[in-house]
Amino acid sequence: MALTQTQQQTLIETDRGTPMGELFRRYWIPAMLSRELPGPDCDPVQIKLLGEELLGFRDSNGDFGLIQEFCPHRGVSLFYGRNEECGIRCAYHGWKFDINGKCVDMPSEPDESNFKDKVRVAAYKMIERGGVLWAYMGPPEFEPPAPELEWALLPKRTAMYRSAFKSATIYKRSKAASTRATSRRCIASTSMTIRCTKARTATCTSKPIRGRSSKFRIPRADS
Ligand code: FES
Repeated sequence: MALTQTQQQTLIETDRGTPMGELFRRYWIPAMLSRELPGPDCDPVQIKLLGEELLGFRDSNGDFGLIQEFCPHRGVSLFYGRNEECGIRCAYHGWKFDINGKCVDMPSEPDESNFKDKVRVAAYKMIERGGVLWAYMGPPEFEPPAPELEWALLPKRTAMYRSAFKSATIYKRSKAASTRATSRRCIASTSMTIRCTKARTATCTSKPIRGRSSKFRIPRADS
């Protein structure tokens, strides 16, 4: 029996306030790999989780933060800000937010102003287990125990436990970029030596090159 549109929406929508969104927000969610945030004050990472545009970063103490991506002042992406001295500083007017989402500096306000104390961005807890950063996006009072999965407790140098999650994450993130790169290389190429490194095959949609058909199969990298 086919599902109605309403039933499908109930099952697949995970924004805040939706049934599935609230359910998922009761669990730790694998958000990214630890190595994507390799050290204190490293570059932040944009990530979309359960319909929310977020920014993962690591402050000067090495603590992980996951906050909303866009500045509450004028909506600029904090991804372009500066990760410095325990916070992300917005590139537009310099408001600065720590890993708890608290505004800790507001250069445009006089020293005696307490306006910054009233400003916050959404922030979620993020912890590291087994080379993976796990986010909890639900109410603090319902926070479940940290994910103590067997593979996540193995020593760092044991590579086996990472393979499944790593492959899925890297493939997902690189897929779009890889497709774009393949098309670019294909259009720019003047020979048939195009290699597709991600997909098994891909169809070239560029114009005919040197009289060849515009549709041909791109061979696998290892073929
Ligand atoms: S837009 Fe971020 S501080 Fe103004």
